[in-house]
Amino acid sequence: MFHRRTLTQLMAAATLAPASVSAQGRPPLSRIAFGSCADQKKPQPIWDAILAYRPDLFVFMGDNVYGDFTGADSGPLRQAYAQAAQITGYTRLCESVSHLSIWDDHDYGLNDAGADFAYKDIAKELFLDFWRVPPNDIRRSREGIYDSRLIGPPGMRVQIILLDTRWFRSPLKRTDQRGAPGKERYLPDPDPGKTMLGDAQWAWLAQELRRPAEVRLIVSSIQVLAEGHGWERWGNLPAERQKLFDTIRESGAKGVVLLSGDRHIGALYRETPAGLHPLYEATSSGLNMVYWAAKEPGPNRLGGLYANANFGVLDIDWWERRLTLALRDEGGSTRRSVAIDFAEIGIAA
Ligand SMILES: [Fe+2]
Repeated sequence: MFHRRTLTQLMAAATLAPASVSAQGRPPLSRIAFGSCADQKKPQPIWDAILAYRPDLFVFMGDNVYGDFTGADSGPLRQAYAQAAQITGYTRLCESVSHLSIWDDHDYGLNDAGADFAYKDIAKELFLDFWRVPPNDIRRSREGIYDSRLIGPPGMRVQIILLDTRWFRSPLKRTDQRGAPGKERYLPDPDPGKTMLGDAQWAWLAQELRRPAEVRLIVSSIQVLAEGHGWERWGNLPAERQKLFDTIRESGAKGVVLLSGDRHIGALYRETPAGLHPLYEATSSGLNMVYWAAKEPGPNRLGGLYANANFGVLDIDWWERRLTLALRDEGGSTRRSVAIDFAEIGIAA
């Protein structure tokens, strides 16, 4: 008799082991794919192109399901996960590709929510269960779901830092002109008492950035470098945005690349904060949620928006000493791309 393995068993097989284990005996990562914003109620044809790319690792960057719930009844989020588990491409990816995940607002449980979301404990448990996080994983016993992995042999190490931009985040300053260009939902709030990551996660990040690695991917569900729009972004809390740059600089970390989602648009960005090597950011959103009519100024942006379904890829050529950051469409074609020499982002020879 044929026994179907449950999705959760299959996902457990593909989930990455903790850093201490996964750093041993694996070939270096060279093909990393990432994406965000996958509505389980809509078709998700993009998984075929992602699987065809044959990534070594896939990063789910949030809004991995849409399961907003407003009361203690977490039914909609439970149901969203159950429905995602029925999507062929989603499950094939989870069965066959190592993957990591972090949440954004709609798998946290509420649009644009932060620390004051009353039911975040429920959402956290559902997240950890769906993604088969083992009982002894530190995320089960500390606040939030931030996490990191270090993969590859010395000289070819990729660190993946997954930030939780929801659990600790202070309330944002609401706009005085909803929908107006540049101030669609929020205004920058200079209040130094407000936090994006919270003290514990900030301290953890400063430590993580001191671990030896060649390439470091900092995954933030919301955009870091994008300016010129009033949706959620690190620029809503400018002091925290600066603190992120300061934390990178003070740690001496090199080879930093930012990955983000959330926006239902894709784009590539570059900014060079004082005292740092250039920072590149790829925003990939969404896997099937797109904002066709998106139009916004693009300080720091490299080229135009790409507002159709997309996923991101990071190709690392360890021997040419170059990485390529790109956005691909549903058919697998490259739509935006930038090549970055290791030297430009400070990776030592
Ligand atoms: Fe989304």
